[in-house]
Amino acid sequence: MEGFLLGFFITFGFLNSVLDAQQQYAGNQVLDCNNTDEGGPSPAFLYSCTGKSPSCRAFLIFRSQFPYNSVATISNLTSSDPLELARINDVSISELFPPQKEVIVPVNCSCAGWYYQANTTYVTSTVHETYFIIANQTFQGLSTCDILMRENVYGKLDLGYRGLKLQVPLRCACPSRNQVASGAKFILTYLVTWNDRIPEVSKRFSVSARSVVDANGFSEEDPVLYPFTTILIPIPAEPSSSQSRGKPRNRKSKKGLYIGAGTGVAAALLCFVLFLGFMRRKGNGVRVVSWKVEEEKKKLQLSRDLLLGITKVDRALKLHEFKDLEAATGNFAPQNRLSNSVYWGVLCGEVLAIKKMNTDASGELQILNRINHSNLISLYGACQNNGVFYLIYEFMENGSLKDWLHKECCQELQSCSRRIQIALDVANGLLYLHNFTQPAYIHKDINSSNILLNRDLRAKIANFSLAKSAEQGENQQSSARCALNRKGYVAPEYSEAGLVTPMMDVYAFGVVLLELITGKDAVSEQDGEESLLSDAVLSIAHGGNAVFGNLIDPRLQVKHPLGYTIDRSELAVSVIKLSIACLAQEPESRLNMAEVFRTLTRIQLEDAENFTVS
Ligand SMILES: *[C@@H]1O[C@H](CO)[C@@H](O)[C@H](O)[C@H]1NC(C)=O
Ligand SMILES: *[C@@H]1O[C@H](CO)[C@@H](O)[C@H](O)[C@H]1NC(C)=O
Ligand SMILES: *[C@@H]1O[C@H](CO)[C@@H](O)[C@H](O)[C@H]1NC(C)=O
Ligand SMILES: *[C@@H]1O[C@H](CO)[C@@H](O)[C@H](O)[C@H]1NC(C)=O
Ligand SMILES: *[C@@H]1O[C@H](CO)[C@@H](O)[C@H](O)[C@H]1NC(C)=O
Repeated sequence: MEGFLLGFFITFGFLNSVLDAQQQYAGNQVLDCNNTDEGGPSPAFLYSCTGKSPSCRAFLIFRSQFPYNSVATISNLTSSDPLELARINDVSISELFPPQKEVIVPVNCSCAGWYYQANTTYVTSTVHETYFIIANQTFQGLSTCDILMRENVYGKLDLGYRGLKLQVPLRCACPSRNQVASGAKFILTYLVTWNDRIPEVSKRFSVSARSVVDANGFSEEDPVLYPFTTILIPIPAEPSSSQSRGKPRNRKSKKGLYIGAGTGVAAALLCFVLFLGFMRRKGNGVRVVSWKVEEEKKKLQLSRDLLLGITKVDRALKLHEFKDLEAATGNFAPQNRLSNSVYWGVLCGEVLAIKKMNTDASGELQILNRINHSNLISLYGACQNNGVFYLIYEFMENGSLKDWLHKECCQELQSCSRRIQIALDVANGLLYLHNFTQPAYIHKDINSSNILLNRDLRAKIANFSLAKSAEQGENQQSSARCALNRKGYVAPEYSEAGLVTPMMDVYAFGVVLLELITGKDAVSEQDGEESLLSDAVLSIAHGGNAVFGNLIDPRLQVKHPLGYTIDRSELAVSVIKLSIACLAQEPESRLNMAEVFRTLTRIQLEDAENFTVS
């Protein structure tokens, strides 16, 4: 009995001290990579399961470092919820963090065997990675070499491949009974950096130095801490962004500036207005070197106009820093070039297209920021550097319709039904622009290079640099007319009288329809003479002898599985007839976009009825 009691007290005393000093600081042991835990849980692996609950919500500190410098990439790296991460750090979901900014990462921490862990996975991307580099550099010490070696089947020397998927347990913990009793709700895993000291770190998180000393099993108040190791901080409430260190977002700079309805911070809005104002002035051909005091009045006038427009914005538009674009595109490397002035790059963890514009971008910015339709390209952000503007769009995997029509491959992808779907997508986008935006817009530059195809070959209209609101566009005699030199697409009333109406888009759309059906370019050159596709088709039509057969793209005549050729000329002819109705000489004789859309929908329906692929 006495022996039992003694045993009880010894055990109890031991447990009590374990609970008190919840975890032992591992110091630079975590860097060794040759520790074992055969004799019991070792802090060189992870924190042990000594908490009150087997699982809990916990927080980690991660320091922003490229490419893990956005909500998207950091939450992907740590398998945490991006919405939660954005909320806790008080930023938007598309935020880009400045380098070394401390980011709070919320995780689910749970006990597996001896250790608490927050599981994530990591795929190696170079042949030079080792368990140590992944633990110390990629995860900055939030995981350890020892646990990576144990959790993964690849031997230490086998990591020289890219694409290996590794299990990565992150260091986290749940509060012990004692910590709960003294008011701790969560445990934050803090990443130690150079010159960190317990008193300072505790103060920052508004907890007593004593509680941090106890939580990590230190014996003194101000022990030696090693960079790239972790300490635990028991906290009474969710941590907040004000406690994390790093350059705060400067809302007046281009970086981290968001425009959104109702959410726009006044200062940010004003800054954006000035930015637009600057561009607009530039567009008028006035050289603006800097804002002058005497221009203050004009500027305010301008700002109010623009402000009215901008309050209708419904999407967050991000202004990026030029160095981020350089990083994203490898300094605008030739291999990142998509076309003349368009590059692709990875920004905020997403592949995006970046268009360099030497001209005024304000019109396009304003329009794209105001409209939102699945058949119009989405604008994600903008940047200005040395008088050059960069607009950042969603990336369209299959490039322009013009290039796609010239591809020799993949006949089944080029089927008639597919092409009609593309026509419908474009018609739908135009219908929205002409009839469902306030004010209505005219694109003014519809052609097959400005129609882009995404991964699923759905079409979106791009390049709004010439677009005008319908009111503004009427009877516009403009120098901008010179800018419009898309031969083969220009409506006669525009080239003759500069008349801008939605009907000029209808005309250009008619030409795109012809390209879709004939597979030919809008302008072709023969014996040094240019000939227009529209002229060729119209002359056949007016000749009364409507033999369109020769015009149809031979790739549209597909073979049935049973061997015979499926004749698609009936369908093709109805599309050609529709395009002729779009190409009428007089704008008022053309169909409007709503009629075009209805007709195309009917054609698609008939096609589906007559031609069901088995
Ligand atoms: C682990 O490696 C370090 C050097 O990296 C060495 O000093 C230490 O003795 C090793 N420990 C064991 C247990 O092998
Ligand atoms: C992170 O992104 C990669 C590539 O997009 C994806 O394969 C992976 O599943 C993502 N990981 C997590 C944890 O979401
Ligand atoms: C964490 O746990 C909560 C509640 O169990 C769950 O809703 C959430 O999706 C989990 N988060 C992650 C990133 O797994
Ligand atoms: C995390 O991973 C460990 C080991 O792979 C596993 O035992 C545990 O169940 C996982 N935890 C969760 C919450 O998925
Ligand atoms: C761990 O990573 C940091 C930053 O990447 C580096 O400065 C440090 O030297 C690394 N530690 C060791 C032991 O290599």
